[in-house]
Amino acid sequence: MEESISNKIDLDKIDINAQPPIEEPARQYYFMAKCREWVREFERKNGRRPFFFTQTFGCQMNARDSEKIAGILELAGFIEADSEEADFVIYNTCTVRENANNRVYGRLGYLHNLKKKNPGMRIALCGCMMQEAAVVEKLKKSYRFVNLIFGTHNIYKFAELLAQAFETDGMVADVWEQSAKIVEDLPVERKYPFKSGVNIMFGCNNFCSYCIVPYVRGREKSREPKDILREVEQLAADGVIEVMLLGQNVNSYGKTFDPQVTFAGLLREVEKVDGIERIRFMTSHPKDLSDELIETMAQSKKICRHLHLPLQSGSSRILKAMNRKYDKEAYLRLVEKVRKAMPGIAVTTDVIVGFPGETEEDFLETMDVVKKVRFDSAFTFVYSKRSGTPAAQMENQVPEEVVKDRFDRLLKEVQSIAAQKAEKLTGSVQKVLVESVNDHDASLVTGKMDNNSTVHLKGTQELVGKLVNVRLDECRGFYYYGTQTDA
Ligand code: SAH
Ligand code: SF4
Ligand code: F3S
Repeated sequence: MEESISNKIDLDKIDINAQPPIEEPARQYYFMAKCREWVREFERKNGRRPFFFTQTFGCQMNARDSEKIAGILELAGFIEADSEEADFVIYNTCTVRENANNRVYGRLGYLHNLKKKNPGMRIALCGCMMQEAAVVEKLKKSYRFVNLIFGTHNIYKFAELLAQAFETDGMVADVWEQSAKIVEDLPVERKYPFKSGVNIMFGCNNFCSYCIVPYVRGREKSREPKDILREVEQLAADGVIEVMLLGQNVNSYGKTFDPQVTFAGLLREVEKVDGIERIRFMTSHPKDLSDELIETMAQSKKICRHLHLPLQSGSSRILKAMNRKYDKEAYLRLVEKVRKAMPGIAVTTDVIVGFPGETEEDFLETMDVVKKVRFDSAFTFVYSKRSGTPAAQMENQVPEEVVKDRFDRLLKEVQSIAAQKAEKLTGSVQKVLVESVNDHDASLVTGKMDNNSTVHLKGTQELVGKLVNVRLDECRGFYYYGTQTDA
């Protein structure tokens, strides 16, 4: 499913014997044409086209990046495979917590074995983990079978790097410290025909003291509103009905523009795009959530009644050490304001347990916020020490057993509240966007409600991509069984 200008570009018209153009994205299309030549050569030799496989770790931003990678590979003529038994395998990595890194190293051993069976196989690694010098060093030293390494800032150069990697059996590694550039109009292969992520900004300036993202994604930069709107219009023309606007802190969107454009202002423009029926966004930092945004959401017919508002900790003392720039009371007031403007809105959150120096009292403050706010769902994380971040230098790291105990108590509370809240909607009729045929039971389809909850209902492939009314018959804690209805 190619979209945007890649539909209109004919790679065969590009002269790959000429010098590559300097300007972007023309330069990348030149290299896509080169890659296409490599694919044709492969096909002549092997009697089939090469397969590729992408695996994404981490957040929605990484998922969107993987769609861009897939878009380029498909335009070059590769065919998507559903496992690592492929000719080109790329892992788009995350490094937000230690276990994200460990998973990648674990999988690399498996890839090495596959490569021994298929020596022509090419392996690539990209994404946030590659922005860490120590990781790249380790790969260069002990994982020589990896063919291509690049980072988050030069992902737009993927076609060029791929062409380079095909020309050598050795390792091509290109990781940039930073970049102010945003390259528009590269191809994208969407995972779903009916919904899509849309990047509105890249990077993060907040430097929460535990978090590695600002170091691996660089400084905040917003995409021009006109580029975002053109993309959303194009998506709508392609049949997309739900967009998710993506950024590490969408509430600070557009601050660098002159005149400034607010996130709320952008939402109002996106709302006007015909064909788009649902708008979501990720992630909102509580410190920058404006009254204008609340008002815009409340008045909107398309913005989903769901706000993901990461709390991280309920202790004002810990929030200060985390550099979050709000305290417990401000967070509680904010949620109250949001709920007053939009009764029934689902509020979800992220919580970290065991930040350095967290005492039992601090933890109880977190539990207190959880009980007061009654989140519809919450992602709970054990604090993970990320080298290079200020928190990693802090003394008084909390012992593992203590963290584990707090984590278990928090999870229990969060789950019990979420289940009670979910139960309350049983019997109601909700709009559901059907996303897929159920994996386990082919007589069912699975979709998402406005508030992001999952619903299973009787149906076939024909319902996929449609917004339907569903009566929620039964709540199973985190998901529902429902029946399609006209009402
Ligand atoms: N930009 C988003 C969060 C992106 S990271 C925001 O500010 O809300 C997603 C979540 O991972 C964070 O909300 C946080 O809860 C968690 N996280 C980030 N760094 C972490 C660390 N070092 N240890 C444990 N969890 C972490
Ligand atoms: Fe990390 Fe904080 Fe930026 Fe979110 S806002 S990405 S938690 S530094
Ligand atoms: Fe992970 Fe990078 Fe996202 S570190 S959470 S993939 S921005």
